[in-house]
Amino acid sequence: MEKLLIQGGNRLEGDVRISGAKNAVLPILAATLLGDSASRICNVPHLRDVTTMNRLLGQLGASLTVDEKMNIEVDPTTVNSTIAPYDLVKTMRASILVLGPLLARYGFAEVSLPGGCAIGARPVNLHIDGLRAMKAEIVVEEGYIKARAKRLRGARIFMDMVSVTGTENLLMAATLADGVTVIENAAREPEVVDLADYLSRMGARIEGAGTDTITVEGVERLRGCEHTVLPDRIEAGTFLVGAAMTGGRVRCVDVAPASMDAVLAKLREAGAELTISDSMVALEMDGARPRPVDIHTAPHPGFPTDMQAQFMAMNSIADGTSTLVETIFENRYMHVQEMQRMGADIRLEGNTAIVSGVESITGAPVMATDLRASAGLILMALVARGETVVDRVYHIDRGYERIEEKLSQLGARIQRLS
Ligand code: EPZ
Repeated sequence: MEKLLIQGGNRLEGDVRISGAKNAVLPILAATLLGDSASRICNVPHLRDVTTMNRLLGQLGASLTVDEKMNIEVDPTTVNSTIAPYDLVKTMRASILVLGPLLARYGFAEVSLPGGCAIGARPVNLHIDGLRAMKAEIVVEEGYIKARAKRLRGARIFMDMVSVTGTENLLMAATLADGVTVIENAAREPEVVDLADYLSRMGARIEGAGTDTITVEGVERLRGCEHTVLPDRIEAGTFLVGAAMTGGRVRCVDVAPASMDAVLAKLREAGAELTISDSMVALEMDGARPRPVDIHTAPHPGFPTDMQAQFMAMNSIADGTSTLVETIFENRYMHVQEMQRMGADIRLEGNTAIVSGVESITGAPVMATDLRASAGLILMALVARGETVVDRVYHIDRGYERIEEKLSQLGARIQRLS
């Protein structure tokens, strides 16, 4: 089991290039299955989850070629299976994203039920209900979602909870359905918009992506095309919080600032000075200690739940008290006990965390439990006195490309121990 060894105390300073967004590239790779020719996806981050999705596409029979820059060409014309097996799906919940495309393109799909994970039960009822509304016949048995449809029919679907991958699955299915589909209470995340951009370029007819109502007029076929993936707003946010916590100055390049409004506003509230251009965000803290900021997670354009752990880390050393309310997942506070072991003063009351900032925290052996919790622990380690060892680093590698290299380039003392 690999670990990260971090010596705290250095400021983060310099430039860091932000990779393509994990939560955009995963639905887009699944969407390549809808085409009747090959697609080329560029700016793909080198992440465990991308490798898993590539393996799944390969398992379905698609032909993949990956070049040295991680650009991926997917040829779906060789697909010969519509089964997404448990051994793959259990390692990555986002595998559920092949359900809509397989059903729409081939009329069949058997996808293992994704288990829950550390942050919650993560049901997929909204995905299933929406596809049933489009006249899919779906049974859930033996741990698999078994779906079939001669041809999906356009429908008006109201999603009673905002679901990012739920919206994406239904959006992808609707592109080849017979008639018009309206998805109401749709997720508005930038990654949904990036997927819709790719689908439109394939020939789909989509209106309203990025709003809470998406209208899709089904077409007969979609052709493969080239697409460059949106920059990762969560990776960028993570590095900017690291700069704010260490009192440094970091420039994130190749980012999409317009996708980061809620996070940038909170960084300003914490006392950071931001300089923004169309593909760059620079943060200057000039040695100041962060001010506490209250956080209330919500669907986009609200504050992203994927940045909650990182802001809890910053609030742990801020000069005052703050509250964080997690409204998206029922158990996304696994990082709290690890942060407490480093000296953070955090009290949990239901889905609210009350944080009293402390002057200093100490390094400790800690364990990662989920992707963003790990990021929060690494940020704590950057400012902790002494040495921190973060175990179960595979969680980090799911969503951050070469994090120890990027942090080292910014001046952190961090190394990977195998
Ligand atoms: C996506 O997960 C992201 N993953 C998550 O990022 C992110 O935290 C989450 O959206 C919220 O923004 C990908 O895009 C691959 P949801 P998703 O469906 O789609 C409930 C990361 O760290 N729900 O928007 O699975 C669900 O339990 C990951 O990169 C149902 O009840 O999340 C949750 O409470 C973590 N039934 C809420 O809705 C359903 O059918 C939002 O979940 C679907 C969801």
